Amino acid sequence: MKSIIIIYGSSTDNTKEAAEQIAGKLAEFSPDIKDVANVSDGDFLKHDVLILGTSTMGIGDLQSDWDAYFPKFQRLDLSGKTVALFGLGDSESYSDSFVDGMGTLYKELKNKDVTLIGKVPANDYSFDESTAVEGDFFVGLALDSDNEYIKTDSRITAWVEAIKPYLS
Ligand SMILES: Cc1cc2nc3c(=O)[nH]c(=O)nc-3n(C[C@H](O)[C@H](O)[C@H](O)COP(=O)(O)O)c2cc1C
Repeated sequence: MKSIIIIYGSSTDNTKEAAEQIAGKLAEFSPDIKDVANVSDGDFLKHDVLILGTSTMGIGDLQSDWDAYFPKFQRLDLSGKTVALFGLGDSESYSDSFVDGMGTLYKELKNKDVTLIGKVPANDYSFDESTAVEGDFFVGLALDSDNEYIKTDSRITAWVEAIKPYLS
């Protein structure tokens, strides 16, 4: 079985909560889970599968702990890894930059030798602009706990089921 780590950055615990829910639904894989504020390069390098979550804090910006770690993240050799992204945002107040933080992680990863999994159809969401959209899909799981908390659990469940085949 592949080794999995969930790494999240969270300012008011929404992304942390989502990370914990994802970990719970992946319990059979015994994933590690870490706050990016306390992460080391080795946490990324020693796992086969990286599940990376960030909120968007400041229009279009990564969550602040992700932002602080980002220069190191850019230098990591993640060749051969499987990566899934999730992003928390507010599609009403920030409709022009919804989950852009996830877009920033994606932009960094898409030219690396990694296998990105877990895109979701964008038509399930209501927003104007997002750098985390490519074609008709979000590049990972988009969540809006501020306005659509009621959908969070079912979105996580569906996404976890969709990525499971890539985790064995
Ligand atoms: C100052 C500030 C700026 C924000 N900017 C954005 C944004 O540009 N796009 C977005 O989708 N959400 C934005 N948000 C909403 C947060 O991403 C959202 O509330 C998220 O759930 C916070 O997750 P966290 O508690 O894990 O950090 C912003 C929130 C704050 C407080």
